[in-house]
Amino acid sequence: MTIPQRTQVAIVGAGPSGLLLGQLLHKAGIDTVVIEQRSADYVLGRIRAGVLEQVTVDLLEQAGVADRLHAEGLPHDGVNLSFGDRMQRIDLKALTGKHVTVYGQTEVTRDLMDARRAEGLVTVYEAGDVAVHDLDGTSPRVTFTLDGRPHEVRADFIAGCDGYHGVCRASVPQDVLKTYERVYPFGWLGILADVPPVEHELIYANSERGFALSSMRSSTRVRCYVQCSLDDKVEQWPDDAFWAEFKRRLPPHVAERLITGPSFEKSIAPLRSFVAEPMRFGRLFLAGDSAHIVPPTGAKGLNLAAGDVGMLAEALQAYYRGDPAGIDGYSARCLRRVWKAERFSWWFTSLMHRFPENGEFGFKMQTAELDYLCQSEAMQKVVAENYVGLPL
Ligand code: APR
Ligand code: PHB
Repeated sequence: MTIPQRTQVAIVGAGPSGLLLGQLLHKAGIDTVVIEQRSADYVLGRIRAGVLEQVTVDLLEQAGVADRLHAEGLPHDGVNLSFGDRMQRIDLKALTGKHVTVYGQTEVTRDLMDARRAEGLVTVYEAGDVAVHDLDGTSPRVTFTLDGRPHEVRADFIAGCDGYHGVCRASVPQDVLKTYERVYPFGWLGILADVPPVEHELIYANSERGFALSSMRSSTRVRCYVQCSLDDKVEQWPDDAFWAEFKRRLPPHVAERLITGPSFEKSIAPLRSFVAEPMRFGRLFLAGDSAHIVPPTGAKGLNLAAGDVGMLAEALQAYYRGDPAGIDGYSARCLRRVWKAERFSWWFTSLMHRFPENGEFGFKMQTAELDYLCQSEAMQKVVAENYVGLPL
């Protein structure tokens, strides 16, 4: 592989944001180099959410990577919210005319990697000491090492798609960025197992014992979660303990249908809301997790990332056609959508989890709100509209 010394857009990070941006720009005839600090296998080993909004599916189509998604993805016309012994289906299709598609983020990433490789586009994996320079000039640079040797790529622009812990946001002067954050006092323990889902659509469950989510990757593979303590370790949760707890958090008439089996992945993730403003500094654009994090309730993370890079690809295309207005408006346009998804993810998290500090009163408030949701088509429509995703 020859690494070019110059490209139009240098993309830092080969997660879904970086790879989708690369593919969208390639379709528009714009050159990119992607620089990733991990190996491709490491990137594919990360298990994340699996619900795609229509906007995301449209962008994956535009990027030319939607064939397997259409063949294997599961269209879901509804989603369930349960509390106590009750369960309410939100009819996404009837309320919004839209559906969501269940397809794992790992598969999205794999499809994007395959497409990039098939087009012969340059992706540098296992880059060391990645750094970005001259962000407020006209010729920013990315430097890194590969096999111990130093490299430099000059570009017109740098896209910071390097996630929450990346180097790009950290390279913006502190007095330029304002950050907003909420850390939640619990985590999600998640497993993957080859058993059929307990219900053919997702169930978000509020229970006195804490939140649970029944999700899936296919009709024979489930992804299930329970709210856990941040101090818990996966070793404390053998499969039997996980399934027993998961079962207790579902309504009894659903729980009795539960089929359990050995897990082949188990991990604990913390929950956080985070936004950095603005999403542009000079010739650096932040996109996806490098700029914002949502708690996973509602599965907005990947969808927000896709929206960002869709808007960035549009803005860069306009720039190369001679219209710079798009790149100037990029940050404000993204943030309007980001804050609305932050609000929905925060609200949905607050409604469905046990917050010890809110006590019994807090639990009664949640139950009353869920009861109201069951009676009110207006409220169901608000949930549905946000769940299927807001327009770009
Ligand atoms: N240099 C190069 N690459 C880096 C650096 C660095 N200094 N730091 C991090 N990276 C890479 C990570 O290894 C990772 O592969 O950037 C990538 C960022 O990918 P994600 O964290 O997946 O973020 P993003 O592509 O924005 O995806 C957003 O996917 O990660 C989920 O929860 C997230 O669902 C959301 C969506
Ligand atoms: C998942 O399938 O992993 C998943 C689904 C919905 C969520 C979060 C995670 O809200």
